[in-house]
Amino acid sequence: MLRIEPGARHRVAVTVNGRRYSGFAEARTLLSDFLRHELKLFGTHVGCEHGVCGACTVTIDGRAVRSCLHFAVQADGAEIGTVEGLARDGVLTPLQEAFRRRHALQCGFCTPGILVSATQFLETNPDPTEDEVREMLSGHICRCTGYEGIVRAILDVAGNAP
Ligand code: FES
Ligand code: FES
Repeated sequence: MLRIEPGARHRVAVTVNGRRYSGFAEARTLLSDFLRHELKLFGTHVGCEHGVCGACTVTIDGRAVRSCLHFAVQADGAEIGTVEGLARDGVLTPLQEAFRRRHALQCGFCTPGILVSATQFLETNPDPTEDEVREMLSGHICRCTGYEGIVRAILDVAGNAP
């Protein structure tokens, strides 16, 4: 019978934004907490911790997921993408530039998760309608912006902004 020692820590090795990391996590440690507290990658934010707000969104093996709904040990060996991996050498991506131009953030708490989701969304749907953008954003809670700037920024990058 599998015996889990309370408090036992397990080695977890992951690739984050192309760089190899390893650290230790208890079986119950959430991937979001592992990224922030063990790997010191604080770009991924944590809001609700139960899969509702979208602030903690990262990619695992190319798929956008809630990192608060994954245990760190489940991600062992995975390729993870976080908001820190979007800009290269200090150069913002076109989507990040559009967020800046369209005032798509205020406090910025929701922004890392939305940028990760929207980046992947545009990769799979480079020519979205406004309704499709709003449907994608329905998985994210932003308490500041009213979403208008975010929608415009995403449509800007797609070349569909009014
Ligand atoms: S913190 Fe993960 S969805 Fe809210
Ligand atoms: S900018 Fe503050 S929650 Fe979205």
